Amino acid sequence: MIANRHVVLKRPPAAMPKAADFEVASCPMPPGPPPEGLLVRVIALSLDPYLGGRLRGRHMGEPAPAPGAKLPGFAVAQVIESDHAGFAPGAYVVAETGWARYAAIPAAGARKVAPGETPISAHLGVLGMPGLTAWAGVTQLANVGADDIFVVDAAAGAVGGTAGQIARNLGARAIGIAGSPAKTALVTGTYGFDDCIDYKVEGWQARLKLACGAGPTVHFENVGESVLQTVFPMLQNYGRVVLCGLAEHYHADGQPPVLPVGPIVGKRAAIYGLVVYDFYHRLNDWVDLATPWLEAGELAFHEDASEGLDSAPAQFERMLKGQHLGKAIVRVAAERA
Ligand SMILES: NC(=O)c1ccc[n+]([C@@H]2O[C@H](COP(=O)([O-])OP(=O)(O)OC[C@H]3O[C@@H](n4cnc5c(N)ncnc54)[C@H](OP(=O)(O)O)[C@@H]3O)[C@@H](O)[C@H]2O)c1
Repeated sequence: MIANRHVVLKRPPAAMPKAADFEVASCPMPPGPPPEGLLVRVIALSLDPYLGGRLRGRHMGEPAPAPGAKLPGFAVAQVIESDHAGFAPGAYVVAETGWARYAAIPAAGARKVAPGETPISAHLGVLGMPGLTAWAGVTQLANVGADDIFVVDAAAGAVGGTAGQIARNLGARAIGIAGSPAKTALVTGTYGFDDCIDYKVEGWQARLKLACGAGPTVHFENVGESVLQTVFPMLQNYGRVVLCGLAEHYHADGQPPVLPVGPIVGKRAAIYGLVVYDFYHRLNDWVDLATPWLEAGELAFHEDASEGLDSAPAQFERMLKGQHLGKAIVRVAAERA
């Protein structure tokens, strides 16, 4: 008999969720797929910054899950049994499974993915939602080209790391900002950015200014006010700023971040708010661009994987604190059963 396990909230988190807010327990194996649905075994679970807010009812108006209820979040999974003509047993999907080893899910929300040269978990990172976010901000909003000086923070992460590589592949100079020597090494060594500045080292602002020469023409913001306050004054006139993420504000209960409007006018700057939901229908466009880059070694990614479903609460806490390197996932089971 197959043993199922899941992770649920023990109590509603009052602040940034901690590992102790979760409970990992045995749970019943779903009896089969729901009507028009799938029974799947989870291979890898995606841990993303928005989930921290989502678990507290602070993300895009979506309600917080109740203690004991299925947790939100996407996973790569394999179909075991199907009640939908479009999905055969053995197929791989990306879907909201909950944090569990096995799940019964509607087929309507599942997207088929094919195993290839790239590990299938890449569909949670570079070939999934974070990669699409990067592509949307760089190519659809800021329209980055060969003349640009492109700056991005949280540059070791799935979004920032991919954004800088897209900009570089389009001919721009790519400069990262990241929060540790291991992160800056990943950004320049593996991702191949032109430079990366560690903002936890004193004098980083001067080093960033030097790295940018005449100043950034595009800034891709993933962190919030503390970085924006430094980078915005360096921005060239007619510069573009993509506001993608505010990681440092998600669990801070002080004033919301502020961007002074006067300098925006003075610099004739364009500010773009980015919500990836607007671009899900373009995912194949991004995957078609990214796949040859990945195969040619012109696009790299790095996964920070913890092993086994029971490791999910601790891995989630690490990710929310920014202690991970690259894309945070939990490897729940082997790709092939
Ligand atoms: N707009 C959208 O539709 C959309 C879609 C996906 C993701 N996002 C956002 O894009 C950003 C990057 O996403 P990602 O998945 O690639 O995440 P990530 O970069 O792997 O993780 C967030 C990073 O933010 C940095 N950070 C700085 N201050 C922090 C703080 N006080 N608490 C936690 N982290 C802090 C850390 O990097 P350092 O140590 O290098 O500072 C941390 O690793 C996030 O803000 C995310 O919410 C937005």
